[in-house]
Amino acid sequence: MSDKIVLTGIKPTGTPHLGNYVGALKPLVEMSKSNKTFMFIADLHALNFMRDAAQLRQHTYEIAAILVALGLDLKNAVLFRQSDIVQVPQLSTMLMNVTPKGLMNRAHSYKAAMDKNTAAGLDTDAGVNMGLYTYPILMAADILLYNSDIVPVGADQKQHVEFARDIAGYFNNIYGETFKLPEPVIGEDSGIIPGLDGRKMSKSYGNVIPLFAGAAELKKKVMRIITDSKLPDEPKDPDTSTIFQLYKNFATPAEIADLRQKFVAGGMGYGTAKTILFEKIDSVLSAPRAEYERLMANTAELDKILDDGAARARVVAEQTYARVRRAMLG
Ligand code: TRP
Repeated sequence: MSDKIVLTGIKPTGTPHLGNYVGALKPLVEMSKSNKTFMFIADLHALNFMRDAAQLRQHTYEIAAILVALGLDLKNAVLFRQSDIVQVPQLSTMLMNVTPKGLMNRAHSYKAAMDKNTAAGLDTDAGVNMGLYTYPILMAADILLYNSDIVPVGADQKQHVEFARDIAGYFNNIYGETFKLPEPVIGEDSGIIPGLDGRKMSKSYGNVIPLFAGAAELKKKVMRIITDSKLPDEPKDPDTSTIFQLYKNFATPAEIADLRQKFVAGGMGYGTAKTILFEKIDSVLSAPRAEYERLMANTAELDKILDDGAARARVVAEQTYARVRRAMLG
């Protein structure tokens, strides 16, 4: 058991796919086995663009059910809704006062929105609300509130974790040592997980395999993976094959070596390789999928897990916030 505190937030914005599973969800569940982990569903961070409360609530349940179904260790891991901790927006308000506006101007996500507007001939701030603009401050509040040491995030979130460090530093300089400085840990690029067409698996390319697709849908998707036109007898290159690249993330080392051999030797058609892949993914994910479906049909059980998590998170949040209050307001 490491004594490092791990924290991460997951935005409840849509149904996760196999790329999210391999790149983020599976490593997080693993990490929860050996670290005290705060893991929350970042519903407040979704508010700057999601306007449908019922949908937000549903996506929140989905993320919670997925994590529990994948085996998140609920003894070490504190799983909760971001919005259940009132100290998050409170701390965010406090941090506003030590955060330079210029820092927010440099945020990648805000700059991307401005660039898009400029390219479209619109006012640079068109469609930009203050939730988007101050997003990194809210995220700093999440990170600093729970005394996090390690923040595992995708590469696109690295700057936000660095901002949290910067903001903690500004605060500590003015008010004395109050916050621990967190470290970002950048997960393996989920870009290594190819989608059906061989490009990175991404919702924006429409090439995803949903994490908990039923067996029939999973099979249909796998059979649709694009391959080259090599005949069954011909030797095939596993390293450029989407089928093999996906298989590597689900099979044991011996199974991987075996399939590699079959690719290289020739004599196996792509149809057969796809069946092997489908059966492997299905066997790894069928038990979690059944548990996921059970939980989604029992949202009261999910509410209980999330409420328990919030109660545990609140203990730490109250202590940190009390420290901030004392430092700032006496
Ligand atoms: N902004 C993150 C994302 O878009 C989600 C998030 C919110 C988060 N608060 C966090 C991640 C704190 C790590 C730590 O994915």
